[in-house]
Amino acid sequence: MTRVFSGIKPTGHLTLGNYLGAIRRWVDVDQRQSDALFCVVDLHALTVDHDPARVRRLSRQAATLLLAAGLDPKLCTVFVQSHVDEHARLSYVMECVATDGEMRRMVQYKEKAARERERERGGSVRLSLLTYPVLMAADILAYGTDEVPVGDDQTQHVELARDLAVRFNQRYGHTFVVPRATRPAVAARVMNLQEPTSKMGKSDDSGPGIVYLLDEPDVVRKKVMRAVTDSAAEVVYDREARPGVANLLEILAACGGGNPEDLSGVYESYGTLKKDTAEAVVELLRPVQERHKELCADPAYVEGVLRDGAEKAREMAKPMVDSAYRAIGLLPA
Ligand code: TRP
Repeated sequence: MTRVFSGIKPTGHLTLGNYLGAIRRWVDVDQRQSDALFCVVDLHALTVDHDPARVRRLSRQAATLLLAAGLDPKLCTVFVQSHVDEHARLSYVMECVATDGEMRRMVQYKEKAARERERERGGSVRLSLLTYPVLMAADILAYGTDEVPVGDDQTQHVELARDLAVRFNQRYGHTFVVPRATRPAVAARVMNLQEPTSKMGKSDDSGPGIVYLLDEPDVVRKKVMRAVTDSAAEVVYDREARPGVANLLEILAACGGGNPEDLSGVYESYGTLKKDTAEAVVELLRPVQERHKELCADPAYVEGVLRDGAEKAREMAKPMVDSAYRAIGLLPA
C-alpha cells in the first residue's frame, strides 16, 4: 500500500484554506486509500520567533481539529512530531548529506528570512529556519514515504527530500524510498478574501480575509460578505481578471460540489453569491466545530490518540533511522 505522509505546522489557527486545500482530502481519500501518517510538526513551529505557550496550545488545537475534521485513528496515524525522536535523529544525518548552498537556494527560506530580518529590524534569523527543509526531508524519509500531498509552496522542499534520498542511497547504499509530491487534483486553492491574489494562509492571526475553522457562524458571514470583489456588474468566472469573484465561486463550488464556471451562470449579483457562499461555509464548518467541541470536553481521549499515534509512528521510523545510522558509518549501540 502507498505510504503517505503530510504535516501541518502549528504556527497559526487552521483555516478554510487548510481544510479545503488539504485536510478534507486527507480525510476523504488519503486515510482510506493509503497507509497514511498525519503529523502536527511542532518542531517546525520553532524556526521563527515564537511564544512557547502559544505553540503548545496551537499544537493541541491542530491535532484536535484534525480529528474533528474526520481523521480516524483506526485508519491512519495522527501524531505530534516532537513525540517521536526519530525526526530529530534523522535530521542531523541528513544535514550531513545536504549542502549549505542547497539550503540557501530554497525560495521559502529566502522569503521568510527576509521577512524575519525586516521584522526585527536587522535582527537575526534562526539557524533552524535554514535547516528546516532538512528536518522536513527527515519527516518524510523516516517513514519510507511514497507520496507527500502538499501545496505548491512545498514542492521545492519535497524535491529536496528526493535529492537527499537519492544522494544518500548512492553514497551509502540503498536505504530510503524516494518520495514524490502529489498535488491534490480536486482540492480548492482558497485565496485570502481581502487579497484574492494571495493564498489564505494561517500565519496572519486577525486577518479579515481569513476564515478560521473555529470562527463563529456570524464571523464567517461577516468575512465572506466583506470579501473584496470588483466593480463589474455580472458574475463571471475569470481567475486572472476577476480574482475576488473567482475565489468566492471556487469556495462555493468546493463546499457543495459543482464547478465554479457553472455556478457563475446561476448568480446575477455579487450580493447573493456572497450570501450563498457564506451559508455554504457555515454549513461546511458546523459539523467540524461540533465535533471539535466534543473532543475538547474529552482531552484524555485526544491525548490517548496522540500517544498511540506516536508509538505507531516510532515503530515505523526507528528501523529506518537505525539503518541510516549504520549505513552512514555510526557504530551500532
Ligand atoms: N513545511 C510544511 C508546511 O509549511 C509542513 C511540513 C513539515 C510537512 N514537514 C512535512 C509537510 C512533511 C509534508 C511533509 O506546510
